[in-house]
Amino acid sequence: MMSRWHKHLGPLWPGGKCALLLALATGMRTSMVYAGAPDQVTSIFQPLSTPAESSYQTALLTLTVCAVIFLIVGGLLAYTTIRFRRRAADDSSEPPQIYGSNQIELAWTVLPVLIVFVLILVTARTTADVQNQPAPPDALKVTVVGHQWWWEIRYPELGIVTANELHVPVSHAAMRKLTFLRLESADVAHSFWVPQLAGKTDLIPNRVNSMWIEPKETGTYLGNCAEYCGTQHARMLLRVIAHDPDEFARWVAAQQQNVAEDPQVKTGREIFFSTSCVNCHTINGTTAKGRFGPDLTHLMSRNTLASGAAPNTPEKLRAWMRDPQMIKEGALMPNMQLSAEELDQIVAYLLTLK
Ligand code: CUA
Repeated sequence: MMSRWHKHLGPLWPGGKCALLLALATGMRTSMVYAGAPDQVTSIFQPLSTPAESSYQTALLTLTVCAVIFLIVGGLLAYTTIRFRRRAADDSSEPPQIYGSNQIELAWTVLPVLIVFVLILVTARTTADVQNQPAPPDALKVTVVGHQWWWEIRYPELGIVTANELHVPVSHAAMRKLTFLRLESADVAHSFWVPQLAGKTDLIPNRVNSMWIEPKETGTYLGNCAEYCGTQHARMLLRVIAHDPDEFARWVAAQQQNVAEDPQVKTGREIFFSTSCVNCHTINGTTAKGRFGPDLTHLMSRNTLASGAAPNTPEKLRAWMRDPQMIKEGALMPNMQLSAEELDQIVAYLLTLK
């Protein structure tokens, strides 16, 4: 860690001038980093991925500098307030009036400018380091498309399409595994943000942005859309699931399979294919090829429905189809006006899409 600080600061502040900052920053860091395993954390202060760690270090440096300035200014203020307070023995005459001091004014102009300049350089360097990271040949490549209000997730090299839950391999020091994301939007501007993995990056219509993540622990990382994109912006939730390499390979193999037709759910399948569900959804190996809504090929492999608006249980699935607006007001999925029996049949069919 010291070496990284020196890499940033060495050329700027040679010698031990920033020893206090370094001690503060590194001391705080060791006690905080890796304290929060994924699954419950959405904090930039518990990074578990290289780009997030870079942002975290820069944020910590900035916060430390600000804290030191605050302590100096606040301390001087408190000192003068107490030291030069009005005393009982004071007469009521005015103290000597002083009009300016070139030295002091110069000092408190130049010093902040230098501090801000150093912070700009460090921030620019961190940003450049993250953005200029080349994709290694074995990097996983994923395209993420933002929609109102869900995430389309495509693995072009693996032939997999899913939604809202991004599965990636975990990265170990011995065998690093980076995931590069190509970010696009189908409608308005969105922003991909999983705080423990990387900073925010916008998904903008007619433009391709990119970012990368490198989760260092297995588990589920929570995130959300970070750019206001309409009424259900708050429920455009995101999960990144980091697997061990073997487990990831199994997930890939399972996702690449087409689902076998189960004769027991023939009625439900027929109802599904006779409604306009097929115009918006894809189910691999069938005539359903819609791209407007999430791919349903392996719907039941996902933990949530409607981009995290509800858990993916049979009850919620049924409620979602009965009236999407009850679960996610403003959702673009139409109410198909299905009867109770049709709903049961379709749910039975969808439950086979594992
Ligand atoms: Cu998508 Cu906010």
